[in-house]
Amino acid sequence: MNTSKPIALVTGGASGMGLATVERLARDGFSVVMVDRVHDLAAREAQRLQDLGLDVQVRVVDLTDEAAVRSMVQALPPVTALVNNAGVFDERKFLEVTSDDFRRAYEINLIAAATLTQEVARRMPDGGRIVNIASRAYLGARNHPHYVASKAAIVGYTRASAMELAPRGILVNAIAPGLIDTPILRALTPERLGAQLALQPTGQAGRPEDIAQAVSFLVSAQTGFITGQVLFVDGGKSLGGSGA
Ligand SMILES: NC(=O)c1ccc[n+]([C@@H]2O[C@H](COP(=O)([O-])OP(=O)(O)OC[C@H]3O[C@@H](n4cnc5c(N)ncnc54)[C@H](O)[C@@H]3O)[C@@H](O)[C@H]2O)c1
Repeated sequence: MNTSKPIALVTGGASGMGLATVERLARDGFSVVMVDRVHDLAAREAQRLQDLGLDVQVRVVDLTDEAAVRSMVQALPPVTALVNNAGVFDERKFLEVTSDDFRRAYEINLIAAATLTQEVARRMPDGGRIVNIASRAYLGARNHPHYVASKAAIVGYTRASAMELAPRGILVNAIAPGLIDTPILRALTPERLGAQLALQPTGQAGRPEDIAQAVSFLVSAQTGFITGQVLFVDGGKSLGGSGA
């Protein structure tokens, strides 16, 4: 690992917006650690980026394995930019969702991010940056109450972390993506995807690179006075109203 460069760690980095963020931060000059649980995909994508001359390393870890997460971080140099992006999404009707559905959503979308943040924060240099990928859905959405609640929880955790870490100049913000064209959308039926697109003021989904661009902004040294905020990158969906 190139320790002359600042280290960025991106979870869920093998796919979707995490992968776009890994590439973007490597192009921004970070030495990037891509963390994912899917070994083959992570190895293939990291190799592709390395072949482009980018400084990208892989760590294959299930982020819900707390001991593995803590030892992975302890074996790394101090991390300057942490992006908690890994997440799971599925649909359940309000009257059918189970407590296990809630536990699974919270386990990765909140608790894994909080565990990793705590371990990274121990040695993060002053002035470090943390970005949590929430979702516009935390404002409210139908057919996935467990997901909505877990994303509202990571926004709360973002605000708590921002208060705790501000004395060290470590800034913590969340991004709330709207509909972004990534593999996670396979959890939606074509009908549900069509319904979601119909609600987009822009009429189309965003690209993973739209999120990577926002992460790049929030982790840059120039954004020194923004903390505890939620940046919506959603093509206007959070504006509300029918659009009529
Ligand atoms: N795509 C969207 O429309 C959308 C909208 C709002 C928010 N989000 C959020 O954005 C984030 C990224 O989603 P995406 O759309 O790029 O999805 P994706 O499915 O393409 O990528 C998610 C990645 O996280 C990894 N991951 C999941 N659980 C893990 C675990 N326990 N340990 C290690 N890695 C794990 C997966 O292997 C995968 O590579 C998620 O938090 C998601 O909730 C997505």
